[in-house]
Formats: sequence, structure tokens, C-alpha cells
Amino acid sequence: MKYLRKIKDDILYIGASDHRLSLFENLFPIPSGVSYNSYLILDEKTCVMDSADASVKESFLENLKTGLNGRALDYFVVHHLEPDHSAVLIDILKEYPDVTLVLNSKSYSMMKSFLNEPMEFNYQLLSEKESLKLGSHELVFVMAPMVHWPEVMVSYDIKDKILFSADAFGTFGALNGNIFNDELVIDDYFYSEARRYYTNIVGKFGVAVQGLLKKASGLDISMICPLHGPIWRNNFTDLIHRYDLWSKYQEEDNDIVIIYGSMYQHTYQACCELALRLADKGILNIALYDVSKVDVSYLISEIFRCKHILLACPTYNGGIYPKMHNLLTDMEALNVSNKNIGIIENGSWAPMAGKKMKEQLSTLKNVYFMESQLTIQTVLKDSNEEALNLFINEVVGLYYNNKK
Ligand code: FEO
Repeated sequence: MKYLRKIKDDILYIGASDHRLSLFENLFPIPSGVSYNSYLILDEKTCVMDSADASVKESFLENLKTGLNGRALDYFVVHHLEPDHSAVLIDILKEYPDVTLVLNSKSYSMMKSFLNEPMEFNYQLLSEKESLKLGSHELVFVMAPMVHWPEVMVSYDIKDKILFSADAFGTFGALNGNIFNDELVIDDYFYSEARRYYTNIVGKFGVAVQGLLKKASGLDISMICPLHGPIWRNNFTDLIHRYDLWSKYQEEDNDIVIIYGSMYQHTYQACCELALRLADKGILNIALYDVSKVDVSYLISEIFRCKHILLACPTYNGGIYPKMHNLLTDMEALNVSNKNIGIIENGSWAPMAGKKMKEQLSTLKNVYFMESQLTIQTVLKDSNEEALNLFINEVVGLYYNNKK
């Protein structure tokens, strides 16, 4: 099935979507699928910008052949070597042996690990600010290491002011015919999926993303073409603002998220009581999630979004409830920073989860651990009243102090 759309008179979208994949990277649930974007420039020279995932190989190759319409393929730009964008590269080299791969020194050295057979290919190495002339189009390359892998680069088309941004500004979600942002409803759900994509895939590399945003701020951009999700041809100020916040590990909202693990509902009931009492204090939009039920990628996204993180779980095998332990491991791995964190532990005979949770999160930067910690022995009871009030008062103080 051919699926091409013009993004400019001489630039085609030749990517494809996978609506059937359940887990991106075999890790992250993608209920709305995912797109693998690729672009074909038809100038005096022809040039493809990245390929696609193996799951859409046939569609991609057919799109490319149709788009070329009998012309030779002159250049193939490798912005990012991760297999979701390079799985078809070997097929391209076989079908278009005269093509010249456009790489940087890092991607060139990494290419070897992607070839399971020795292959000769034409290539052109480019470094920072060097350009490739295709005719009326001229692509200027900007290195973007660790946005998401070390070899990543982006390119800027001087003629049409297009930023080909690799993984940056991407999002989960297949494209259903509408490939431009202004053909879609860009609502809270859209941004929550964009945030979930960013925080889980690129979240660890905020410093690198900040570096790229700085470089991009000097460009006059009319269109952003990422490797996943819609092409942005207007109104991208909000998207860039959110990327700036996410990569600085700053919250989007002064909200409270309560994430609990609960074996027999007791910790859950304590968290419900806490949420009700916080609401009574005028706190809005409280989020409450079961760590056993909600995939960790959604929790990470919420942790990035909110300023105040309340974590509650039982003691398990003398330590942290395993599902909570898994979440904390992800928080560490993704460099979560700039948060207020409150801890609630449960333990019927020897509560230890709170101490262990604090220890595990001690490497996070610029995190304030609340002084009050709530310890429950099995069930929240009247004897917890004083500690609960202290805990609530501290949360409320932090919330109102941070209100913008
Ligand atoms: Fe979409 Fe880092 O690959």
C-alpha cells in the first residue's frame, strides 16, 4: 500500500505507521500505535531522510520507489541509527547501490554493528554546520549527541526553513492519514502522549536536549519534521515550551501526584483519605495512581508533569514493594529532579519501606524530601491522626508556596 503526502512541492512524506505494535521498544504501551517518519526530497539530487522500522519495511520501500518515480536515489541521510529508523537501511543499500550515505563520524563508526555482513557503500561524512547541496535545497547539519543516542544529528533545510529533528519533538501515536499538526486535535491527551514519549525515551538526556534547543533557537523555523508523530507546520511555540520545561526537569503544573502500592487495600485507603483531606484544603487536580496497575511509563510522565510527588507502599521482604522499587529505579535512571517528595510507608511489624525509598532516591538532584513521613502499621487509624495532620500540613505548605 502506497502512502505518500506532499509536505512541500518537492518534499514527500514517505513514512508509515504501525497500528498493531503493543509495546514500543518492547517496553512502552502504545495504545494508539506509532509512526516512523521518513522524507524524500526531489531536487536536482534526490535525498531520503532516514528509513523506518522493520515492521513497516514493505510500505516504506514501496513509498520510496513510488516517490522516486524512476529517478535514482542520490543521498540517504542518517540522522539516527536506532533500528526504528534504520532497519531498512540495508535493503536500501541493496536496492540502490549507488546511493551515498550521509553520516557523521560517530554514525559511521556505529554502522559496523548494524551490518551483519561486510558491505561496501558510498558515504559522505559531515560535521557540525557542514552542509549538503541538493540543488535549490541545502541541508545544514547540527550534531545532537544523546538526543537520544550519541550519533544523532538534525538538519535544517535553508530553502524551506525545515528542521528535520530526528527523535526530538516526536510523540507516540500512529498517523492516520493526517500527518500535520493542524490536521489533528492537539489536546491534553496528545500532549500527555508527547510527554510520555519524551520523558521515557529521551528524559535522561535533558542536558543534551537543552543544548539542541539552544542551537535551534537561532534558526528561523517554519516546519519541524520529527521521526515520530505529526509534522509541525505552525503553532509549535507550546511544544517547544514544553520541551524546554521537560528537559530542564521543571514541572508543568504545581500539582500533586500520589502513587501507591497496596497489597490488601490498606495503603490505598490511606492514600484516598489523604487525597480527600488535601482536597478539603483547596488543592485541585490531585492525581492518584496504583503502581501495580498503571504502567510505569505513565507514572514517569506524571512525575515529570507534577511538582509534588507522594509515594506510598508497604514494606515487602524487609524492603520496598517491588512495583514501587521498579518505579524508583526508573526515576533514578531518568534523572528526575526538582521535586518535592513525600513518603508514606506501611509495615505490619517492621516498617522499612520509607527508609529504603529515601535511600534509593538519594541520588536525585535538587529534591526536597518532606520532613514529615507517615508510617502506617497495617491500617490507618486514630493513633495516626497527629502524624497525618503534620504530613498534610507540610504538603499544603509546599503546594501553596510553589503556586504560580
Ligand atoms: Fe525513534 Fe531513538 O529512535
